[in-house]
Amino acid sequence: MRLQVTALHPEAIDILSLTLADPDGLALPPAGPGAHITLRLAEKLVRQYSLYNGPGEKRHYHIAVKREADSRGGSEAVHRLRVGDIVRVAPPDNKFPLDRSARHLVLLAGGIGITPLLSMAKDARRRGQSFELHYFARTPQHAAFHDFLASHVFASHVQFHFGVEADAVGARMDALLRGAPTGSQLYVCGPNAFIDRARSVAASCQALSAVHWESFTAEPGSRPAAEATSGFAVRLARTGKTLRVDPGKTILQVLQENGVAVDCSCMEGVCGLCITRVLEGEPEHRDEVLSDEERRSGDLMTVCVSGCKGDLLVLDI
Ligand code: FES
Repeated sequence: MRLQVTALHPEAIDILSLTLADPDGLALPPAGPGAHITLRLAEKLVRQYSLYNGPGEKRHYHIAVKREADSRGGSEAVHRLRVGDIVRVAPPDNKFPLDRSARHLVLLAGGIGITPLLSMAKDARRRGQSFELHYFARTPQHAAFHDFLASHVFASHVQFHFGVEADAVGARMDALLRGAPTGSQLYVCGPNAFIDRARSVAASCQALSAVHWESFTAEPGSRPAAEATSGFAVRLARTGKTLRVDPGKTILQVLQENGVAVDCSCMEGVCGLCITRVLEGEPEHRDEVLSDEERRSGDLMTVCVSGCKGDLLVLDI
């Protein structure tokens, strides 16, 4: 889709929210709570951002983007957009769907991880589903949507946690999860360390019936690529070409070096853009985006980080 930036709004320190719409005002493909869209900001610059849409919003997509100090170009490019600019956007996808039958929702946001959880909070509130939202941020000025969440509509559901020291976050999470009603489901989004901490605390919380999390931005270097230890071959089924993946290289690097275009963004196995169909061979999965079932099937792999357990992979490229 070619969508137009129709509004920009500074939400907090370094956080800009954008509204995107069809230039002719047409309805957009629907997006449920937890969904994200993919923006192609330049030829090789593709990024995914969670929507914070509310239920029933048919003509706009809303995203909020934090300017990252170690940006690899994505957040800088978004912050340079102006009202009226046209952006290429892939329709919404949802790898973080909300269970609308859950008895109670505990939504745990760290920093800009608030965006998908805000869409869930809006959805739950509209339907009358029981929920609580906990928002960890440095200060109120760093918390996107602070005034909206503090308003009377949400105030009774929302608790802010400002300036909690890193080594105290686990204890704070533990305290709030212990108060959750039995049968609650936990949804977490934020930096990887925040998600890891929440998952570890949640593991000993009997009240939770399910834990869901989403990370779009891996910390640099936190997910090592599956570099080949002894090398293997990759055959491209559509051209018949066979490429060698030597130790120290990833499949994606080899594909790019040989002029084979593959959509990619995070390069760290979290966004899912480079997922490729496997026709033969056994992948060694190192990503965080495929489900257990998809891994077991062996039919799909992320070529940016995953490797090969044998000598040959045949890919549907
Ligand atoms: S580029 Fe993101 S999962 Fe491979």
